[in-house]
Amino acid sequence: MHPLVTDLSPSQLRERLNEALSIYVAAMGYPPSVARRRAPMWAEHALRRGWKATGAFTSGVEALTHFGPQTRQPRENPSNALVGIAYGYSGDSQQWWYQQVRNGICDVRGVAAADVELEDYFELTELHIHPLVQGRNLGQSLLLQLLNGVDHKRVLLSTPEIAGESNRAWRLYRRLGFDDVLRNFRFDGDPRPFAILGRSLPVQPLECSTP
Ligand SMILES: CC(C)(COP(=O)(O)OP(=O)(O)OC[C@H]1O[C@@H](n2cnc3c(N)ncnc32)[C@H](O)[C@@H]1OP(=O)(O)O)[C@@H](O)C(=O)NCCC(=O)NCCS
Repeated sequence: MHPLVTDLSPSQLRERLNEALSIYVAAMGYPPSVARRRAPMWAEHALRRGWKATGAFTSGVEALTHFGPQTRQPRENPSNALVGIAYGYSGDSQQWWYQQVRNGICDVRGVAAADVELEDYFELTELHIHPLVQGRNLGQSLLLQLLNGVDHKRVLLSTPEIAGESNRAWRLYRRLGFDDVLRNFRFDGDPRPFAILGRSLPVQPLECSTP
């Protein structure tokens, strides 16, 4: 498989929103109903300042092999199917995520640390590869393409805490030099503990090893 990793405009993501959300629920192991509930939120995110999205595509023949004959063929490029999606946008003090994370950092590390961490960042909001094509370095390519040219001092993200940091998301973030900002943090309304991770931008190509 030789997937193509490329940036998506807001209208291209809107065109492929159902495809992107089906990758999201498959990757996260969520029921399909979650995709319908998330659709308005993803559409609203595309209007935010600094929004950037990147998709990973594979050819129609490969898509049929991986996903079967029901694969939706996108109108503008019938030979390609979406297999990975990543997006993010500029952090802003009016956003719920900013306010939650700021309170968390203030509680644990103090106001000065919160000011530094949140001064100028890009929030990596979503990063998902379809389970059938995970573990082939596609997530890393997608993330590097997404962060390429992002004009902020730092990139921040939240990811569920996993014992021993032993899943692909954690291995990827550590490989790319993400450090701890906050650990075992609980967002309002979600009982799961999350880690907030961050690193400086830009990511230099030589900083990440190749397989
Ligand atoms: C997390 C996720 C995006 C990573 O994408 P991916 O394409 O599966 O994985 P990567 O691009 O990191 O590729 C990793 C694989 O490349 C290979 N690899 C080996 N050495 C490598 C190296 N030095 N550099 C890069 N890849 C290497 C390995 O096979 C490795 O698999 P492993 O992690 O099992 O060892 C994807 O697995 C996913 O969607 N997971 C579910 C959803 C999720 O957790 N999203 C993040 C929420 S915060």
